[in-house]
Amino acid sequence: MNKKTVKDIDLAGKKVLVRCDFNVPYDENRVITDNRRIVAALPTIEYLLENNCKVILCSHLGRPKGEVKPEFSMDIVAKELSRLLDKEVILAKDVVGPDAMIKASNLKEGQIMLLENVRFEPGEEKNDEELSKKFASLAEIFVNDAFGTAHRAHSSTTGVASFLPAVSGFLIEKELNFLGNALENPERPFMAILGGKKVSDKIGVISSLLEKVDVLMIGGAMAYTFFKAMGYNVGNSICELDKLDLAKEIMTKAELKGVKLMLPVDTKIGKEFDPNTESKIVKYTEIPDDWEGFDIGPETIKLYEEELKNAKTVIWNGPLGLFEYEQFAIGTNSIAKALANIDAIKIIGGGDSAAAVEKTGLAEKFTHISTGGGASLEFLEGKKLPGIEAIQDK
Ligand code: 3PG
Repeated sequence: MNKKTVKDIDLAGKKVLVRCDFNVPYDENRVITDNRRIVAALPTIEYLLENNCKVILCSHLGRPKGEVKPEFSMDIVAKELSRLLDKEVILAKDVVGPDAMIKASNLKEGQIMLLENVRFEPGEEKNDEELSKKFASLAEIFVNDAFGTAHRAHSSTTGVASFLPAVSGFLIEKELNFLGNALENPERPFMAILGGKKVSDKIGVISSLLEKVDVLMIGGAMAYTFFKAMGYNVGNSICELDKLDLAKEIMTKAELKGVKLMLPVDTKIGKEFDPNTESKIVKYTEIPDDWEGFDIGPETIKLYEEELKNAKTVIWNGPLGLFEYEQFAIGTNSIAKALANIDAIKIIGGGDSAAAVEKTGLAEKFTHISTGGGASLEFLEGKKLPGIEAIQDK
């Protein structure tokens, strides 16, 4: 990575503003259901504490859209972070208001505080210059460690970097090393597994990966758009009728590039969008009217598993079926287990596929599970991420 990190700057004893991505899921009782993003931020925070910094953390949580909404308060994050660090985390009552300013100016070496949700500020998502200056006024150095939010050009991710020396934390460094190396210097055969609902959501990443991979396996609802493009009936399955030409183009491009494009050969279909709906397995060419495809079938699982045994590098983004419903999670879970057992560099591109892998309990068998959803997708598309661009070059 050619960006400066916390190791490239003298920060001992300094006041440091750290942008994290603490946008974690939580339930109706405001209990955090997955703390991975908080855990992933710990190495940078601990390093700053070891260097006697005065640590001011900030993040967004959810989408309060510029308004102060208590249900989006960072209080649950402060509590979890304090538990993980076994240390007090002072929570400011506002973002850059009087309480944050006073608490930041009273902060002592080795102490940590957390600002309130940066998206309580109307200027945050507009990358407002005045707000960026206020963030900068809190500290002497800016550390961006929010990989999951690196695709957003907001005040706390990019704007503030114009007014303070800006370096990356260890999480951003790690994400860029793993994702970047896999894309630039993959051990071959290099395979990608792409799932998700829509071809249109994944077209950028499909185009970019077709330039790099040896094998591309498709799953998830976007497979039905391919089947339709091949002239088959897809019943009530999700299908983008305006993307049939695009699907055909992808198939032609794969052939021209010599990429083995694998599509499901069978599918598990259901009568209704319901966890307990009647279901059955059919060939991809035989989806009846009034039925909807929700998962890849057992033949497809076998084929993909066999192919994956030859892989030396694998990137996976997007679930292969409606994995929230147990009876349609078999494809996603089986591929997660198959991947766990092969000897290759295995990278999970965040979001739902990361959640699926975590659910199998085999997460430690993967080389890297990205904390980015949209951010890792944009990175895999080859796009420049504004949050990374704003960090100083080495
Ligand atoms: C994410 O969860 O992908 C990031 O935290 C970004 O959140 P956003 O999509 O609300 O900007």
